[in-house]
Amino acid sequence: MKTTLTVTVNGAPETFEVPTNLSLLHFLRDTMNLTGAKEGCNEGECGSCIVLLDGKAVNSCLTLAVEANGHEVRTIEGLGSHAGLHPLQKAFLTHTAVQCGFCTPGMIMTAVALLGEKPDPTEDDIRYALAGNLCRCTGYRQIIDAVRDAAATLRHEARVPEEVSA
Ligand code: FES
Ligand code: FES
Repeated sequence: MKTTLTVTVNGAPETFEVPTNLSLLHFLRDTMNLTGAKEGCNEGECGSCIVLLDGKAVNSCLTLAVEANGHEVRTIEGLGSHAGLHPLQKAFLTHTAVQCGFCTPGMIMTAVALLGEKPDPTEDDIRYALAGNLCRCTGYRQIIDAVRDAAATLRHEARVPEEVSA
């Protein structure tokens, strides 16, 4: 059975007829051609498929596409560009927090959600937020350092306009 899905993806409104049992992950990858979110375990264990649904990190493998109807989805493709990487993307590169990169989109989108809620997270906050994101390559030290570094950059960027206008 199919149904109409109207969803905003990375700021652009989209409407498609989709099977009611289609996962959000497969909608993004196969229909939208947004392949940043990865299919790892397909059962909610690895976090490689995480995207933002109205700003909250969700496992897109366990979310039906129709659950996004009327909502906003943000994927790693909507975060930055080659010309202007997001501070989290820059920090992951600076701290060598990327090796194969399979886990990285999910890690970064989880971190975006965390920093949206907690701009100055403790290391425990970061470890807790990333507990559902598995990495087989890098080791978590570099990833945690990258998130802390990006948090500091984002706090600084948020302060600068206030200081200029003061
Ligand atoms: S593919 Fe979704 S949690 Fe692993
Ligand atoms: S960099 Fe390879 S799984 Fe994390």
